[in-house]
Amino acid sequence: MPLEDFLSDLESLESSAESAFRTAQDSQSLEAARVEFLGARSGRLKAVQKELGRLDRAEKPVAGKRFNEVKKRLESLYEEKKALLNQATTASSDKEIFDPTLPGRTFRLGHLHPITQTIETLKEIMGRLGFSVAEGPEVEDAWHNFDALHIPESHPARDPLDNFYLATASQQDENTLLLRSQTSTVQIRVMESTPPPVRIISLGRVYRPDTADATHYPMFHQIEGLLVDRQVTMADLKSVLRLFAVSYFGEEVHIRFRPSFFPFTEPSVEVDMSWHEGWIEMGGAGMVDPAVLSAVGYDPEEVTGFAFGLGVERICMRRHGITDIRELYRNDVRFLRQFP
Ligand code: DAH
Repeated sequence: MPLEDFLSDLESLESSAESAFRTAQDSQSLEAARVEFLGARSGRLKAVQKELGRLDRAEKPVAGKRFNEVKKRLESLYEEKKALLNQATTASSDKEIFDPTLPGRTFRLGHLHPITQTIETLKEIMGRLGFSVAEGPEVEDAWHNFDALHIPESHPARDPLDNFYLATASQQDENTLLLRSQTSTVQIRVMESTPPPVRIISLGRVYRPDTADATHYPMFHQIEGLLVDRQVTMADLKSVLRLFAVSYFGEEVHIRFRPSFFPFTEPSVEVDMSWHEGWIEMGGAGMVDPAVLSAVGYDPEEVTGFAFGLGVERICMRRHGITDIRELYRNDVRFLRQFP
């Protein structure tokens, strides 16, 4: 057999083997192609190899070299295709596995924000003591935020640097609007619209232009309480706040009153609650000033009352051991998730 014929046989074998390997759809047809072309006993490559032995001595090196190239190439084409088909079968059998004993896929439910949770708990506790929930606007006028609360025009609490005034009118003007700086505004709104007795709480946002740090934020929440009736005394204030504290923090909590001053209460106190070894200041309280009762048309000879205003963030932070108020408003779910 002349060398050219040998080489052309080799070449046509190479191309048919190549296309057989490439077009094999599954491992059976690939195996059939392997036996046909690369089979050790009767494969077509084996037959060509026999021809190689019959060539002239001088032609053998060229023919042998070419033969080896083709053999190597076909073997690696075969291996490649085999790997490819294996991969495809494992992938598709993965897809088909259905194990009914595996637990179902759960998805994470959201939950209320810790401040909202605290507000709900406080409403519940105070509800049991007979207090209903009242609401007031966050955009307030100077009358409800200051004047009716007996805060004089010269009082530093009215300072433009301490309030978010909305109108450009002078802050002495009673039509001036501002974001309320305290929920005590709701005391006035309730008393203006309801005759005594009243027994309400009001929870909501208040605004002060403070620079945010670990304990300050330009917006926070207060819980305001107001009880007006005949013969209400400081003892009532004290027992309500004690019941409130015990219900929220547990039986071992103590409360402490320190003398203070607020324009709308007389006498006024700061309220502390015991916590671990020390005290936490929760807010202010006192007996409603007769001037406030008169301003809303109540008769201070007939009725007396107590009021208090506590910081909701502070209550929530102490309960959960949160040390930075800003965490509450970053809305990072990794933080919020800790308080389900
Ligand atoms: N409104 C006061 C504040 O924001 C807190 C306060 C003090 C509320 C005494 C009251 C009260 O009802 O009686 O600092």
